[in-house]
Amino acid sequence: MIFRFTIQCLLISLFAFLVNGCGGNNSSSGEFTVVQDVKVGAFDASLAAKGEQIFKMKCIACHQYDKRLVGPPLRDVAKRRSANYIISMIISPEEMQEKNDTVKALVQQYMTKMTNQNVTLDDARAIYEHLREIAGLK
Ligand code: HEC
Repeated sequence: MIFRFTIQCLLISLFAFLVNGCGGNNSSSGEFTVVQDVKVGAFDASLAAKGEQIFKMKCIACHQYDKRLVGPPLRDVAKRRSANYIISMIISPEEMQEKNDTVKALVQQYMTKMTNQNVTLDDARAIYEHLREIAGLK
């Protein structure tokens, strides 16, 4: 009886461990991101319009929509990457360059590092809504 109970406990803990992993900092794909809980609901046109303004001030020097400039073209980025990844990249490129394998590879490929544009989390969320719009995900 006691033996069976112990085995059951072990199996349950093993299952919990497998489901939760080692805890913490990773999205479901196992990739490091700075934020993990970005909520993406119905498309919000006024938020996207605000995001477009900020994009044109802070991002356009290095990113075009369809052509490589200093950084990658961003037309389809909302299709290629998760909301957590994109918003993490906007608010803390340094941490992503250090810890995210995809971004590490991009630094090699583009031979330059994205610099921190001092964007707040709210403004980053607005930019994400704009990137969603241009990717046709609304
Ligand atoms: C100084 C140039 C520069 C500025 C300004 C800049 N970026 Fe970047 N960005 C890059 C580079 C270069 C990369 C490739 C990764 C790296 O080398 O750091 C990149 C990567 C990215 C990525 C990841 C793309 C992918 O395919 O995974 C996103 C998303 C991004 N930038 C969004 C933005 C947004 C939004 C802004 C404005 C707030 C911005 N960037 C401002 C240079 C810049």
